[in-house]
Amino acid sequence: MTAKRKVGILISGRGSNMQSLARAMATPNFPAEPAVVISNRPEAEGLDWAAERGIPTVTIDHKAFATRMAFEARLHQSLLDHGVDLICNAGFMRMLTGSFVDRWRDRQLNIHPSLLPAFPGLKTHERVLQQGILITGCTVHFIRTEMDAGPIIAQAAVAVLPSDTPETLGARVLKAEHKLYPLALRLVASGQATVENETVKFTLEPQEPMPLFVPASNLTTLG
Ligand code: GRF
Repeated sequence: MTAKRKVGILISGRGSNMQSLARAMATPNFPAEPAVVISNRPEAEGLDWAAERGIPTVTIDHKAFATRMAFEARLHQSLLDHGVDLICNAGFMRMLTGSFVDRWRDRQLNIHPSLLPAFPGLKTHERVLQQGILITGCTVHFIRTEMDAGPIIAQAAVAVLPSDTPETLGARVLKAEHKLYPLALRLVASGQATVENETVKFTLEPQEPMPLFVPASNLTTLG
C-alpha cells in the first residue's frame, strides 16, 4: 500500500466536520491520516475533541499577528512542521491570500454548505429559504483565491422542506456534509480525483458512488 497522505485540518469553532474526517481516517485502509488540527481561535471547541483523541493540535491566533501574511507564514510553517501534504478547511473562518492558496494549490480542500457556485459566502440557508430554492446541499472543492470557489470534488443534494427554518435545514445539510467530506478526501488522497484544466477528473471505482441526491422522504439514510 502507498503511504498515507498526511492531513492538516483547519478549524475555527465547533469542528464537527473535522470530527467526521478524523473518524473516517481512523477506519481501515483510509488513504490519509490526521497530522494536525490547527485553529485560528483559541476557544475553538474542536481542539479539545482532537487532543483527547491523540491528534496533535495547534492554536495560531490570528489576532496576535500584525498582518495576514505573518499569520499565514506561521500557519504554513506549522503545517510543514507536522509533515502535512493535504489541507482540509473545516469551518475555517479566515480568508487566505493568493500566496498561501498558491503554495497549497490542488492540495487544499474546503467544504461549503450550498451547491456551489450557488450561494457562496455566509448565511446560505437563510438565502436558500428566502429565494424559495427547493434543492440545496453541500460542496467539497479545491481552494482558489476567490471565496468558496475552485474545482468541485463532490456534492450532495438536500431537499428543502416547506417547514424548514435555517436551523433545521442547516442541521440536515450538516449531516450530508459529514458524509460528503470523508468521501471527497478519500477520492483526493487516493489519487482518484485530480485537477485538470480547472475541473476535477475522476477515476472512480464502481463501488464508490457519489451521494448525489438526498430525497426528503429518505433523509434517515444520512443518519
Ligand atoms: C459547516 O457548515 C461548513 O460547511 C462551513 O462551516 C461549518 C462548520 O461547521 N464551512 P463545523 O465546525 O465543521 O461543525
